[in-house]
Amino acid sequence: MTDLSRLRGDFPILSREMNGRPLVYLDSAATTQKPVQVLQAMDDFYRQANANVHRGAYALAEEATALYEGARAKVAAFIHATSPREVVFARGTTSAINTVAYGWGLHHLRPGDRVLLTIMEHHANVVPWQLVARHTGAKLVYLPMDDGYRVDLTALDRMLDERVKVVGITGMSNVLGTIPPVAEVTAAARRAGAISVVDAAQLVPHSPTDVAALGADFLAFSAHKMLGPTGIGALWGRLDLLESMEPAEGGGEMIRDVDLQTSTWAEVPQKFEAGTPPIAEAVGFGAAVDYLSAIGMEAVRAHEADLTAYALARLGEVPGLTVYGPAEAVDRGGVVSFTLGDIHPHDLATILDQQGVAIRAGHHCARPLHRVLDVPATARASFYVYNTREDVDALITALAEARRLFGVA
Ligand SMILES: Cc1ncc(COP(=O)(O)O)c(C=O)c1O
Repeated sequence: MTDLSRLRGDFPILSREMNGRPLVYLDSAATTQKPVQVLQAMDDFYRQANANVHRGAYALAEEATALYEGARAKVAAFIHATSPREVVFARGTTSAINTVAYGWGLHHLRPGDRVLLTIMEHHANVVPWQLVARHTGAKLVYLPMDDGYRVDLTALDRMLDERVKVVGITGMSNVLGTIPPVAEVTAAARRAGAISVVDAAQLVPHSPTDVAALGADFLAFSAHKMLGPTGIGALWGRLDLLESMEPAEGGGEMIRDVDLQTSTWAEVPQKFEAGTPPIAEAVGFGAAVDYLSAIGMEAVRAHEADLTAYALARLGEVPGLTVYGPAEAVDRGGVVSFTLGDIHPHDLATILDQQGVAIRAGHHCARPLHRVLDVPATARASFYVYNTREDVDALITALAEARRLFGVA
């Protein structure tokens, strides 16, 4: 096993107790905890370098701008972008996908066009397309999954016809843990003349990412799911597409010139960054990228694969428990959703919380998928660099207590 337990000391929150028990944090798919290195970088920024970016004619503003743009360069290098200009800072995955939906979709989709999504998409890669479809007359269609909780690629051949203009695919399902063959799907999209949008909220934080190898046109992710702060994320896009696209938001910072009736736009990426950006958050994002790079993303992936295999094996021993997702750890990431007998996942999460174990319960912003799974909600444990096998053991012990309390046979 890749032993990352030395990292735990970097995360102050992990030494907290909840309900009189040591906190066992198993909700990193929702948001991750932050190491002191990220907290320190943001604190240093406010104490030493705070000024607005891109407009100051003084040294402090230049320093702040250099830090902000430096963070962009780090994020770009982390995903092997060709240039930092391909990285637009957004509020997170959700706003990054909205930027594509409104900046590209609104201007290119026509009545009868189709947006092809997988049935396992998070609402962040569904609802923006629904909103834009209302304006354009386009229609959303969904790729089903097979019995093994994988994206059904046989349906791809059938569904990817000339009406499809956008293909949206998750890099990893935040419910099932499924890692779809993104490169295969983006290549098929390109052959069919459609653009591809990868929701990488659960991909970039957990595996080495190379945007060229993925072959996507757009890729969206959030800093807070990869040890960074909330309020910032990134939209990576192919430069020619970003350049030809309309901005989705207008205001200061994103213009070249403003006339009484019309305006012209600044260069990419500023064109998409209206208003004062989240500067300290960008600095924190850069620090998170540094931290993950120091561990090495191969090691992050190996650590999570090990924990997931261990969790799947141990959960398999719990009577009455059903796991939703691929059976083999090699096919999936560090997210395990399950139900236990007839216990409502919310009740299960409450019982686990009393034992210090923090898991998520609900539809995890994936209602269409839960309808297919035919359950209103699931419980979900998700792992990151700071989790250990002991955390999984604590989950299993807490589940045994829940079974006892609810009398699950
Ligand atoms: C797969 C996936 N996509 C999108 C999102 C939305 O991310 P954010 O809320 O940071 O915009 C999430 C977060 O839960 C996610 O797991």
